Amino acid sequence: MTQLFHRGRRLRRTPELRALVRETPPLLREDLIMPYFVVETDDVSFRKPIPSMPGQFQLSLAQLEEQVARAVDTGLTSVLLFGLPATKDPMARAAYAENGIVQQAVRCLKKRCPNLVVITDVCLCEYMSHGHCGILSPDGQVKNDETLPLLAMTAVSHAQAGADMVAPSDMMDGRVAAIREALDEKGFRQTPVLSYAVKYASSFYGPFRDAAESAPAKGDRKSYQMDPGNAREALIEAVADIEEGADAIIVKPAGPYGDILRTVRDTVDVPVFAYQVSGEYTMIRAAGLNGWINEDAVMMESLLGLKRAGAGGIITYFAEALLKKDLVR
Ligand code: PBG
Repeated sequence: MTQLFHRGRRLRRTPELRALVRETPPLLREDLIMPYFVVETDDVSFRKPIPSMPGQFQLSLAQLEEQVARAVDTGLTSVLLFGLPATKDPMARAAYAENGIVQQAVRCLKKRCPNLVVITDVCLCEYMSHGHCGILSPDGQVKNDETLPLLAMTAVSHAQAGADMVAPSDMMDGRVAAIREALDEKGFRQTPVLSYAVKYASSFYGPFRDAAESAPAKGDRKSYQMDPGNAREALIEAVADIEEGADAIIVKPAGPYGDILRTVRDTVDVPVFAYQVSGEYTMIRAAGLNGWINEDAVMMESLLGLKRAGAGGIITYFAEALLKKDLVR
């Protein structure tokens, strides 16, 4: 009898056959980057749960050191650091202070875990009294070119502290060029810039703004972050940042922007990372904690989806848990 239809089930019959023909390689521990929130405080035991991100904490320097060292013992290879300064002002001075909290954290972690890849988020919103990512003019506009030197100083201060990579997330135009030039001038030619080139103005960042205490006091970030309706613009942003000197780029958020990740991956040749952001984490966590979904399975599937869409590395708040539960190789 002639075969009249496709028998896709032939190759799905056993786990071994399915593994043999699987297109996407399994997640590796070195694919994962774990974000941390470090707080400038004298209270060494400070460890505050973030209510909208169950399982995540704001940590003192000492707590961060211990938690990261334990994660490294389970196989963590990279971290991304966010700082919560003791004081904020309209020029974000604590962002580029030599002894700022991120700068301290970098020194501490590089000393404790020399092989750990320490990446720093370069942005001003956590350090600005008004919570915007740049200098604010009296009429409420975020000033672009005036902000660039502050971002460059911040990146240089992170490199001076020993950061392995700096990751600008502010979305000011021209900041990669400004940061690259400043790094080179100060002798940090070997410090890569991992640019959040494709960053959307997303409501999925909500829990993060609780975690980093960085919500804008007034207005939103729509005049500098990308409009969620735009896909072609992602390529313009990616190419612009690469031309300015970005060594690798980030697409953010990740899951709801899988189409963007795929298009960017197919268009540029630098490494492309996906950032599974706070809201994506929290939705999976919350449903899991309620017993509504199989959390581990959904978490793995969400990350597989990002790899399938073309992500090289993945920044995810699940990184520590994945390693602890032995879910990656
Ligand atoms: C700083 C920054 C944000 C995130 C990373 N860097 C917040 C924002 O742009 O408002 C979001 C990360 C997350 O939601 O997990 N600008």
